[in-house]
Amino acid sequence: MKIVVTGGLGFIGSHVVVELQQKGFEVVIIDNLSNADKNVLNGIAEITGITPVFEELDLRDKDSVVDFFSRYTKIDGVIHFAASKAVGESVENPLLYYENNLNTLVYVLQEMQKKENANFIFSSSCTVYGQADIMPITENAPVKPAESPYGNTKQIGEEIIKDVCNVTPSLKAIALRYFNPIGAHKSAIIGELPIGTPQNLVPYIMQTATGQREQLSVFGDDYPTPDGTAIRDYIHVVDLAKAHVVALEKLLKNDMQSNFDFFNIGTGKGSSVIKVVNTFKKVTGTNLNYKIVARRKGDVVEAYANTTKAKSILGWQTELTLEDALADAWRWEQKISS
Ligand code: UD1
Repeated sequence: MKIVVTGGLGFIGSHVVVELQQKGFEVVIIDNLSNADKNVLNGIAEITGITPVFEELDLRDKDSVVDFFSRYTKIDGVIHFAASKAVGESVENPLLYYENNLNTLVYVLQEMQKKENANFIFSSSCTVYGQADIMPITENAPVKPAESPYGNTKQIGEEIIKDVCNVTPSLKAIALRYFNPIGAHKSAIIGELPIGTPQNLVPYIMQTATGQREQLSVFGDDYPTPDGTAIRDYIHVVDLAKAHVVALEKLLKNDMQSNFDFFNIGTGKGSSVIKVVNTFKKVTGTNLNYKIVARRKGDVVEAYANTTKAKSILGWQTELTLEDALADAWRWEQKISS
């Protein structure tokens, strides 16, 4: 079985490629290296013993997309990660986000639509729920108006796929709504490589603990939560990667009730910022400087998943803990910062 992974050298994509290869899938990676390092290929090869095929290609270039799919005609599935993901940047430069995240999706789907049989997995986000009214969040929770162009690209992306599936019975698709992916492969051979100042909590914690940043700013301690800090559902990237493999297998078995569906991919447990900080300190025995500052604009109070649908339909649930994820992220960070 041959699977195309767009954005396959990125943080989540690379972990998915590892899991796919370990399950015997043949992988072709597409990446334009805009936010990834080509050395990740060596890391994947070191873990799995197999170097995936790599095509350096920019999916914003429609001709290249058409050319790629004319060269690779026997493809069993596409997992589409290639996209930009910095919320703040998307507010500054919305058209970049609409071009990177939506044009590319349209071009890939146009090629999928030509096939007799196509399977497609889309990286979506729990950001589509905004501040959900009920915790934990089920897939029945309404999609709220997006807080940022980035969030909007995930909502529109899902709608585009749904509309195309509606008129294309040969196309089957699943959107996975990720909660907060963190951690690294336990080998410490691949992990997250933030460019510039990290915007996300765990990479910022890592760089503070190694001394690259002076202090973590905890954004707000006056939320209506037990310790006053905001709550998220932090999921180990390897658990998240495995969810892609089971979703893909579901599509390949033609075992879906409709040709488009979506799932929450989280642990089901909420952790506050302070809980993450304290767990990091406990697991690693490392101190962490932090100060409480004002809330960050656009942040929700809490978001954690109800995982019943993923469990019952995909037969998937997380196996790793917050402790595992922080320990693995820390070993990776020590490796890259040494
Ligand atoms: C963010 C995006 C989300 C996106 C995801 C992708 C926002 C509002 N949401 O999720 O749409 O899918 O990234 O990567 O940007 N925190 C601190 N100090 C920091 C960094 C974060 O206290 O230096 C807090 C935040 O306020 C939040 C929690 O840590 O409560 C998690 O933040 P983060 O890792 O940025 O993820 P999200 O905001 O949940």
